[in-house]
Amino acid sequence: MSVRMGIVNLVSVLVLMIEVMASYDPGFQANGLSMNYYLMSCPFADNIVKDTVNEALQSDPSLAAALLRMHFHDCFIEGCDASILIDSTKDNTAEKDSPANLSLRGYEIIDDAKQQLETQCPGVVSCADIVALAARDAVFWGGGPYYDIPKGRKDGRRSKIEDTINLPAPTFNSSELIRTFGQRGFSVQDVVALSGAHTLGVARCSSFKNRLRNFNSTHDVDPELDPNFAKTLSKTCSAGDTAEQPFDATRNTFDNAYYNALLQKAGVLTSDQTLYTTPKTRSIVNGYAMNQAMFFLDFQQAMLKMSLLDVKEGSKGEVRDNCRKIN
Ligand code: HEM
Ligand SMILES: *[C@@H]1O[C@H](CO)[C@@H](O)[C@H](O)[C@H]1NC(C)=O
Ligand SMILES: *[C@@H]1O[C@H](CO)[C@@H](O)[C@H](O)[C@H]1NC(C)=O
Ligand SMILES: *[C@@H]1O[C@H](CO)[C@@H](O)[C@H](O)[C@H]1NC(C)=O
Repeated sequence: MSVRMGIVNLVSVLVLMIEVMASYDPGFQANGLSMNYYLMSCPFADNIVKDTVNEALQSDPSLAAALLRMHFHDCFIEGCDASILIDSTKDNTAEKDSPANLSLRGYEIIDDAKQQLETQCPGVVSCADIVALAARDAVFWGGGPYYDIPKGRKDGRRSKIEDTINLPAPTFNSSELIRTFGQRGFSVQDVVALSGAHTLGVARCSSFKNRLRNFNSTHDVDPELDPNFAKTLSKTCSAGDTAEQPFDATRNTFDNAYYNALLQKAGVLTSDQTLYTTPKTRSIVNGYAMNQAMFFLDFQQAMLKMSLLDVKEGSKGEVRDNCRKIN
């Protein structure tokens, strides 16, 4: 009896020890990833990516948005496995060539970082980790929060145009957003915080023109749109489908201006403004508009979650030699 109790106690003490170690060691991750994954194999990996990103953003600040969006598109399709970087071949049309790729840019920055990493530590650092690190560095470069992310993602071997159907559409309302993100384990708060990524960058007319003409039988334009801002959007669209509209007044600065725009009914996409229209998400929008620190905190937590979506470990993936081609 007492021996058995002893074993039970020993087991629970061991379990407790492992849990304590896990919570104390910031490098511990159940999925094979860790904060110091490249500590021995490529100690300067983080720095090489950061320097490459900073240099590129110095000459074109608008690429910060591109790098952040690239990470989102990568993770939402097939997990964070660099499937977004694969070029199409004659036998395969890749994710990249989906119409949903609208304005995805910044691939050269990833190639550049990869090339330098291959010189320093060949075959070690995955393209998926480079994309995740680059997004993190882009956020910080724009004035956003800095956060550590675990590394060790492997690169995937699949990239198909048809998978991009799983991306949320700019015409989604809040229930559709909450459902699509919910399927991947995100909370309502995560949805609102992640949408704040639209504090960087622009949308093309084709992504918001649904709100501008013959909205429905009773409204010419989306009634959730401020009439003056509707004019701004129409003016942008007069230059054609690919004309760019910044999401907020500070397109290269990572701040909470996006949420303040929503309060003014000056959100660009249906999927932006809907966060303010719906009571369930409006309170969160109000909170972030008032308190940027709270937005930053929730954003970095949600980004960490996003950066771990369906990561491939071990033989389920590989470390690509060239980020654009499966080995
Ligand atoms: C909530 C659902 C989302 C929808 C429906 C959505 C949709 C879009 C659309 C349609 C554009 C403009 C594309 C164009 O017209 O060129 C865009 C841009 C952008 N998205 Fe999202 N997005 C969502 C969530 C996210 C998330 C989670 C992130 C990152 C964490 C993100 C980051 C960005 C960035 C940074 C841009 C600007 C890109 C640039 O200027 O190059 N988006 N998004
Ligand atoms: C995006 O997809 C279109 C086809 O829909 C393709 O022509 C274009 O090259 C792609 N853009 C990028 C940056 O890959
Ligand atoms: C969102 O759109 C779906 C599908 O179009 C619709 O069934 C639902 O009622 C809408 N929800 C809200 C809150 O408008
Ligand atoms: C038009 O859109 C507004 C706002 O979304 C909505 O309240 C109204 O019921 C719609 N009217 C029709 C006829 O669909």
